[in-house]
Amino acid sequence: MIIAIDGPAASGKGTLGKRLAAYYGFRHLDSGLLYRAVAKAVLDAGKPIDDRAAAIAAAKLLDPAHLDENALKSDDIGKAASVVAPIPEVRAALVTFQRTFAASKPGAVIDGRDIGTVIAPNAEVKIFVTATPQERARRRVLELKGRGDPVDPAAVLADIVKRDERDTNRAEAPLKAASDAHLLDTTHLDIDAAVRAAIDIVEATRAGRGRG
Ligand code: CDP
Repeated sequence: MIIAIDGPAASGKGTLGKRLAAYYGFRHLDSGLLYRAVAKAVLDAGKPIDDRAAAIAAAKLLDPAHLDENALKSDDIGKAASVVAPIPEVRAALVTFQRTFAASKPGAVIDGRDIGTVIAPNAEVKIFVTATPQERARRRVLELKGRGDPVDPAAVLADIVKRDERDTNRAEAPLKAASDAHLLDTTHLDIDAAVRAAIDIVEATRAGRGRG
């Protein structure tokens, strides 16, 4: 079974994905880490983040099985990731790994922006997670503080709004809910409530298709 979770920055898809995967005994992939790793490789090579050739080369060389999540989770790398992510050749270089991962047995949970639309349009369960930009900014501030990173709350909100705009308006694999996705607005849900709501969605889908 494939569970596809998409949604905007800091909507909680990552935590939700991890918890769902643990609950069902499935593998979990945070696809944002792939784009973050490409961005970091460009910056580490001393290239400007808008150097398309450098981004494409980095995506082709990426070893997606060995990513250092901790080094990739900063806000700056997230912003840089949304600059390389619109490049079609970057996305193309990352497709096979994601589709192979999606086919993991007994199942996979993948979160990102285009999982239900492009990577796994055949996913049995698609969840599109949202929350207001203000609530997402509040969560991101807490997360960054937890990491010990310097935090300017107004800048975090501005960054989230800018990133939503870039991810939604790009031509290639834009952020949008698949027509058959279940919408999950977590603005007023804590993580436990969001996980319960997501499990309800998965169970309703399984019941609907005879638990296959
Ligand atoms: O955790 P957060 O939502 O802040 O970011 P992320 O999921 O790690 O994604 C970082 C950036 O990578 C996004 O803003 C997108 O531009 C890009 N991305 C994408 O284009 N497609 C995906 N499947 C996942 C991420």
